Amino acid sequence: MAESPDDPPFRSTKSTEAIQAAYDEEEATSYVERHWLKRRIERRTRRHQFGDATGRVLDVACGTGENLPHLPESTEIVGIDISTPMLLLARERADDLGRQVELEQMDAQRLSFADDSFDHVISSLSTCTFPDPTEALNEMGRVCKPDGQIRLLEHHKWKAPVFGRVTERMHEGEYERVGCRLYEDPTTVVRQSNLEVISDRRWRLPPFTGITACPPTTADTPI
Ligand SMILES: C[S@@+](CC[C@H](N)C(=O)[O-])C[C@H]1O[C@@H](n2cnc3c(N)ncnc32)[C@H](O)[C@@H]1O
Repeated sequence: MAESPDDPPFRSTKSTEAIQAAYDEEEATSYVERHWLKRRIERRTRRHQFGDATGRVLDVACGTGENLPHLPESTEIVGIDISTPMLLLARERADDLGRQVELEQMDAQRLSFADDSFDHVISSLSTCTFPDPTEALNEMGRVCKPDGQIRLLEHHKWKAPVFGRVTERMHEGEYERVGCRLYEDPTTVVRQSNLEVISDRRWRLPPFTGITACPPTTADTPI
């Protein structure tokens, strides 16, 4: 059967080690030096998705700390990432913002936190990179308190004819460089995990999807 033009091209996952190596000092520096317009366009989606997170918040694959300015002052923030160069720049950003943030190098697919440790677990532009997104999402659910929430912000495929093709080319480069599988539909990916999707919202510009989910409910419902 012929492939539909809307079908995502198949992208095999890169290994955790390959992704960790790809997010080296050069990649981390270019991440913080991204175009101001791109950052500005993303700002409202980050604010919408994370701006009312409360309590103890875990930012999974926090990178250089792009979400930090959008989290309320009252939150206690813990950030983890596989890449040390990205974390060093997150530390600089936290210091510049005067925010107390606990940062740790850790694999999102094997979090070392106890069950039910966080009120909110947030993550942005990450599930397209994890070799096993289901494992990472299940881990987010495990460390989130039963009455907490998991908030995600992810890319989706831009369907506009001309810009769609331009971004497709750019995304090819992103896949080669850092392993991002930018054409996976984020909501479909989350539904493959044990999280329960509460809502998803798609923006056109930037082409991001915001997903709010909760941890799986336990089976022992009272009779
Ligand atoms: C596209 S960046 C997004 C960074 C940040 N969340 C943001 O919104 O700007 C993807 C991040 O995922 C991290 N990452 C990739 N695989 C990971 C893993 N298995 N565990 C933890 N972090 C990982 C990378 O090091 C990188 O910082």
